[in-house]
Amino acid sequence: MTHSASPAAPPTPLEARKSAALSGRVRVPGDKSISHRALILGALAVGETRITGLLEGEDVLNTAKAMQALGAQVDRTGDFAWVVRGVGVAGFAAPKNALDFGNSGTGCRLVMGAVAGCPISAIFDGDASLRGRPMRRIVDPLELMGARVTESRDGGRLPLTLQGARDPLPIVYRTPVASAQIKSAVLLAGLSAPGVTTVIETEASRDHTELMLRHFGAQIVSENEGSHGRKITLTGQPELQGADVVVPADPSSAAFPIVAALIVAQSDIVLTDVMTNPLRTGLFTTLREMGASIEESEVRGDAGEPMAQFRIRASNLRGVEVPPERAPSMIDEYLVLAVAAAFAEGTTIMRGLQELRVKESDRLEATAAMLRVNGVKVEISGDDMIVEGKGHVPGGGLVATHMDHRIAMSALVMGLASDQPVTVDDTAFIATSFPDFIPMMRRLGADFS
Ligand code: S3P
Repeated sequence: MTHSASPAAPPTPLEARKSAALSGRVRVPGDKSISHRALILGALAVGETRITGLLEGEDVLNTAKAMQALGAQVDRTGDFAWVVRGVGVAGFAAPKNALDFGNSGTGCRLVMGAVAGCPISAIFDGDASLRGRPMRRIVDPLELMGARVTESRDGGRLPLTLQGARDPLPIVYRTPVASAQIKSAVLLAGLSAPGVTTVIETEASRDHTELMLRHFGAQIVSENEGSHGRKITLTGQPELQGADVVVPADPSSAAFPIVAALIVAQSDIVLTDVMTNPLRTGLFTTLREMGASIEESEVRGDAGEPMAQFRIRASNLRGVEVPPERAPSMIDEYLVLAVAAAFAEGTTIMRGLQELRVKESDRLEATAAMLRVNGVKVEISGDDMIVEGKGHVPGGGLVATHMDHRIAMSALVMGLASDQPVTVDDTAFIATSFPDFIPMMRRLGADFS
């Protein structure tokens, strides 16, 4: 299934109702960020990359197709098991057709970086949501490295044609916003450049690209910069060697059953293999500050990525203030945090959320609308969101998902504990990141109809 430029399928609404205690033990699907990167680095390496636990969601499948279109051999060898035979750094071939990334900003932007370091031209496209998202933030540094956009819609939006650099230049780039996508695009282009490419970020963003580049044999150094930042230096033109990648469970997907278990009375669930990279765990820190019972055990690591088992029990939550510097480590989790905040006692203030406006939807507005239509008082003040928690949510609303998987899942989680059912207008986009969300939540006891 793909929602790209093709005519929209009829929407598939769903209602979530107040549920009895959730219980059970599940493993949510593989991490989306790591899955994209494993496919892309596998395609840029020589030899074989064996990936287990790959997220088989639409976003990642579109990246797999793009890698094939660029000349890599990508095969599914079993459930969540994939093998990539790469073409080597700078070895991509010009694709015959436009590369269609569907709903995925990450897939599109990382592959733009990888293509920018190859002497080929490629057309990048996506669905209506992705076509509305800013691409200048990626194209700007890639042009400094010698790539060129030869065609695009206004403001540099998709569809766009990118001509990669014949002789890529290494640069020193200070990212204008904390974004792992911008950082990763520059590093992936920098692979083909002679000499050292440097990315400086004032606020550290997720470092999966750096960790995985090292795992594939690149020389890459990450140092602290200022109080919250990082300086990353990559030595160009390495021979990347195919490697084994075990993809841990996605903490951003785990966020939905975790919040569901916290708000549905008497719940007690276990989630296994959840990735606990500290640049991804801001939600867990925040929920604990709110009084959540989240126990971590069986901590272990694979290819530089730590993971743990989580036990979550229903908890009485209280409102907190979330500082702006925590945003990069929980940027995709504010929607479901806002749901937890609505069930908490007291006010939750989430600061510094400007990046939420340019995600799969304008998540600041969409989250506020999701809460308001279900009787929760919420205010947006500049880049801050303020939720008045009353310990319960009236519900009864119909939530517009705006082609955004995380709005759909957050609203469905809210309905599991609200007084009246909550309905979402379309569940189709859940398949981009968490294809088995609905059956998995039902197995835990969620009442969806
Ligand atoms: C991602 C980075 C984040 C995040 C996205 C995945 C990644 O975007 O929102 O879902 O895998 O690099 P930004 O880096 O643009 O904030």
